[in-house]
Amino acid sequence: MAPTTGPTTAATPSGTPRERWSSRIGFVLAATGSAVGLGSIWKFPYITGVNGGGWFVAIYLACIALIAVPIMVAEILLGRATRKAPVGAFRDAGGGRLWRGVGWMGVVTVGVILSYYSVVAGWTMHYAWLSASGALRQTDPQAVSAQFAAVHADAGVNLAWHLAFMLLVTWTVLRGVRAGVERWNRWLMPLLLAMMVALTARAVTLDGFGAALEFVFGLHGADLTARSVLEALGHSFFTLSLGMGAMITYGSYVGDDDDVAVSSVTISALDTLISLLACLMIFPITFTFGLAPGAGPGLIFANLPIGFAQMPGGAAWGTLFFALLAVAALSSGISALEVVVAHAMDEFGWSRARATLTLAAAIALLGVPSALSGATTVFGSGFAEWTTPLFGPGKGRNWFDTFDWLASNLALPLGGLGVAVFVAWRMGPAARERAFCAGSSWARAYWAWLWLLRWLVPLGVIVILLNALGAFGGRLG
Ligand code: TRP
Repeated sequence: MAPTTGPTTAATPSGTPRERWSSRIGFVLAATGSAVGLGSIWKFPYITGVNGGGWFVAIYLACIALIAVPIMVAEILLGRATRKAPVGAFRDAGGGRLWRGVGWMGVVTVGVILSYYSVVAGWTMHYAWLSASGALRQTDPQAVSAQFAAVHADAGVNLAWHLAFMLLVTWTVLRGVRAGVERWNRWLMPLLLAMMVALTARAVTLDGFGAALEFVFGLHGADLTARSVLEALGHSFFTLSLGMGAMITYGSYVGDDDDVAVSSVTISALDTLISLLACLMIFPITFTFGLAPGAGPGLIFANLPIGFAQMPGGAAWGTLFFALLAVAALSSGISALEVVVAHAMDEFGWSRARATLTLAAAIALLGVPSALSGATTVFGSGFAEWTTPLFGPGKGRNWFDTFDWLASNLALPLGGLGVAVFVAWRMGPAARERAFCAGSSWARAYWAWLWLLRWLVPLGVIVILLNALGAFGGRLG
């Protein structure tokens, strides 16, 4: 399940060759590879924990079904109709400056996200290594949490793994992904899913399983604020790689007779299944061992090792799990780099090699402050936590948090809104209907989709954004 930048080409209406997915299923696998990653397995459980579970999960599921899925269809159709990366797609579909600006915002956002995503992917690789070397064997919850804190604070470790991950992403995008990672992913992603099912089955036997179920699915809303509603919305975009041009770019390689509606629902359903499984394998450990569900970005790293330590052969299982998670992160990271690379190729006429090397280097550099954001010392010298000018010292947001907050909760909702409004209101009605119905066995759903895209999606996104910014006098719940 990885993006393909392989050699298959087909003539576009303008006569220039553009790459195509090897098959229908190739596209679904690649897009699922983009969607399923750290967002589903690392971030979703941690923000669910921070926001108190329950209503947060319910609102997230509603955002996926009613807002994100219609936008995914719109992004893929826009890409397929224009055969361009986001900026070119808006332009060729008749969008002026404002719309090209939406495309640009997506390209910048995807680069910013990749810069700190790579740091988290580095943690998973480091944990695979720690597990293999036997260093994760402890079962004392306090010690396991302290171990993550130590990793987070270690500048050298964070920088080294961040760079290693960026090199892997660069190498794959350069090489053309089809021969390597796409073939691997066909085996590795089902394996990851099977492991998650097995770990969840084990978690069922823990004392904390009932408490975990109640936490995730019980409708208790005490912790829900206007900000958490925005976070649920923002995460539905983050996890499905929407609002940043990724699905527009992937859509530009989709065949003319592929079923975009069915593919979008399949991709979203798989991603949602994996996100919920992640919660059900992590929170039983949290509650059984008296850990804090709201522990933040370190949640899975402070919980899963305890589960592995108690299993026979736990070191091997732990190694395999964290390594598979790194592979899932790789297929998402590749899709991110592919967006900026395709953009530079389409807009500046750069070669694939030049675009990949230049942009990957820039993104790796941008990730450095995030890699250092937990560091108290850098190579031995004193180092206070980096806080961004935007939030100022004392607000407790470092670069990592700031990038993530701005990207997920501001740029992605705005980007998704842009695509929805453009496709629903600006695109020619005949071209839009033709685009939706081409190859689709769900042509009858056209009007329902258009209605959601015209009304519910824009209103939902605007109300949630304004509400979080305090326009309606404060907080929900
Ligand atoms: N969808 C990916 C996940 O769930 C995350 C993601 C979205 C991403 N956009 C990205 C990763 C851009 C890197 C760059 O893990």
